[in-house]
Amino acid sequence: GAVGKDGYRHYMEKELHEHPVVIGQTLQRIIDPVTRQITLPDLPFALEEIPRAVITACGSAFYAGLVGRYWLEAEARLPVDIDVASEMRYRNPPLSEGGLGLLISQSGETADTLAALRGLRAAKQHILSVLNVETSTMARESDVTLGMVAGPEISVASTKAFTAQLSVLAALTIAIGQARGAIGPARQQHLIACLLDLPSRAAEVFGQDEAIRAMAQVIAEARDVLYLGRGICFPVALEGALKLKEISYIHAEAYAAGEMKHGPISLIDRTVPIVAIAPSTILFDKTLSNLQEAKARGGRILVFTDAKGAARLRDLAEIVVVVPDVDAFVTPILYTIPVQILAYEVALLKGTDVDQPRNLAKSVTVE
Ligand code: G6P
Repeated sequence: GAVGKDGYRHYMEKELHEHPVVIGQTLQRIIDPVTRQITLPDLPFALEEIPRAVITACGSAFYAGLVGRYWLEAEARLPVDIDVASEMRYRNPPLSEGGLGLLISQSGETADTLAALRGLRAAKQHILSVLNVETSTMARESDVTLGMVAGPEISVASTKAFTAQLSVLAALTIAIGQARGAIGPARQQHLIACLLDLPSRAAEVFGQDEAIRAMAQVIAEARDVLYLGRGICFPVALEGALKLKEISYIHAEAYAAGEMKHGPISLIDRTVPIVAIAPSTILFDKTLSNLQEAKARGGRILVFTDAKGAARLRDLAEIVVVVPDVDAFVTPILYTIPVQILAYEVALLKGTDVDQPRNLAKSVTVE
């Protein structure tokens, strides 16, 4: 039957609130609750024999792929190439047979992603797709599909599908890392425990709505916003900037925090808020010094961090959204939630058509 809004003002708001459940359901499907091992569907190839992966997708799914690259490289020690599908389909990269073609798509119908899939198949790659719609064209054309369990996503701007994609990619990373001998049993159990803990941590994020609304007030007044992140949280900054553009029509750019001094710093003044995605991981101090540089130029500093990070930002940040403290590995999944909520709150202040933003389509089936 038709999917209703269940009392929420928009589908987007409803779907934002589904993050904890969707993460939990998606993980339940891929992690055996008893053995706490990753259980992939039968694969027509051996994971340990894969020499490298090519990841491709569009929009938010591409940013999920960027997080996947960091995970697969750093944890599974797998070489990864990645590009947006509209580029990948024409790049014609030299690929040796038997690599992994990893496609990510909520709908499974995006024209560029589908064309890239066909190109990777022609280059004799094994095709593994992370999809929400498991009856889609991409599902039919893949060697294996890993399903997100996100349910129908009605809001044009993707929300829960993104964290579901990340949940699947995290589990896939653990499986590939194990197969390659890069992740030992202790590390594996630690990473799985971090994942299984996420639904509860994700639910806690909704207690921060006041701080997020305060941030939204600042951003709603701006014409341009700069999002910063480092490492696995840089793609979260990209996702935050995309979401803000899509539904509030405010111009936003995301930069790898360390790259800020190579250009965007010239734009910073009182009128350009800086939104930093900065969990207190080993990269925190680096981001902190980037934020000091931005503040020195008059920038208003808005930060998503944990309690430890918040304590160190007391003099620097105008507003801090305190996110539950989690292992660095799962930060991209958790931090996405408040960052997407922020875009939603700004859109509410702007009075835009949140679920049907102008010029955008849920599924782009033309090139
Ligand atoms: C459209 C949607 C985005 C989505 C992208 C890729 O642009 O508005 O939210 O991320 O397509 O869609 P897919 O279905 O392939 O994930």
